Amino acid sequence: MNKHLPNRARITGTGSCLPERIVTNLDLEKTLDTSDQWIRERTGIIERRIAEKGESSSTLGAEAARRALTAAGEKPEDIDMIIVCTSTPDVIYPSTACFVQREIGASKAVAYDISAVCSGFVFGLSIAEQYLKSGRYETILVIGAEVNSRLMDWTDRSTCILFGDGAGAVVLKREESEEPVGLLSSHIYSDGNRAEMLIVPGGIGRETISRQAVEDNLYTLKMEGQATFKVAVKKMTEVSLEALEHNNLTKENLNVVVPHQANRRIISAVAEKLKMDSSKVIVNLDKLGNTGGASIPIALDQAVKSNRIKRDDLVLLTVLGAGLTWGAALIRW
Ligand code: UT7
Repeated sequence: MNKHLPNRARITGTGSCLPERIVTNLDLEKTLDTSDQWIRERTGIIERRIAEKGESSSTLGAEAARRALTAAGEKPEDIDMIIVCTSTPDVIYPSTACFVQREIGASKAVAYDISAVCSGFVFGLSIAEQYLKSGRYETILVIGAEVNSRLMDWTDRSTCILFGDGAGAVVLKREESEEPVGLLSSHIYSDGNRAEMLIVPGGIGRETISRQAVEDNLYTLKMEGQATFKVAVKKMTEVSLEALEHNNLTKENLNVVVPHQANRRIISAVAEKLKMDSSKVIVNLDKLGNTGGASIPIALDQAVKSNRIKRDDLVLLTVLGAGLTWGAALIRW
């Protein structure tokens, strides 16, 4: 008699796509009261990619998705669900995911966006995990895609130096296995009491879009940098430890950490608390800045492609972003 094995959710392919255009700290020095030295020392960022006209979350996301599908050996028409994690959708509606679906020809997929800003990808993984482990679906594409540059106030040196554009994607498959493999668990949280800590205050629901609101600079990102920094270190550490404990694992079991790429000092502080040697921590913000919901899947893809993540490695993803939202996921690769 065939024993029914538990459903697992395994990442079978990763992909990413970056805009060609590079903007360095030295470029920013020309128009802003800042310096390459300040940005490097306080953030670790040296350059970032900025979308050109015609590039958007859907175009970058679709290309990242195609690359993930190729890596997974999967056909677009076999995808059951597309989740695009973005806080910079192409248009107000329809969802960016529907544009991606059309672009890649994923004809049978249900497609929708989720909005959890930098934490979006971990939230998206968590949704995919439920559908795969319940046996409802076989193949799910989770994409993090952002064009943060469109929301920057390019005169605000405390924010515009931090962000960049790009997209990353993963294909997740249902797999029956006795062993705990693939996405072991995900842990996600929100605290709306701190909604204003990182916000683009201009919207569409409270008031009609007006010329005045645009002139008042409401459609750009505002951040309480120091407060966000502190809470990021605390929550990313806490939720990482929770994920380990949930799986009866310890810090010592970890092979690789893929943290959200907001600030090198945040990453170092979290790594220190997790007692992770820096060689095991993936960092790409020197080249890309903070790409919001795309940051973890891009870093994951680069780590896989450069062989820093290998089969059977225990991989931790950890993030905090606007909302506030935060989360972690543990993966047996
Ligand atoms: O992805 C979502 C999560 N986001 C984050 O986690 C971001 C968290 N926050 C941070 O990464 C940091 O707080 C920042 C990088 C945003 C700021 O670094 P900081 O070390 O907290 O600097 P600060 O805000 O305390 O500012 C220190 C000084 C100020 O000058 P005064 O008042 O001491 O004269 C700022 O005006 O640095 C000044 N400053 C700058 N100087 C040169 C702020 N931005 C710049 C700049 N260039 N770009």
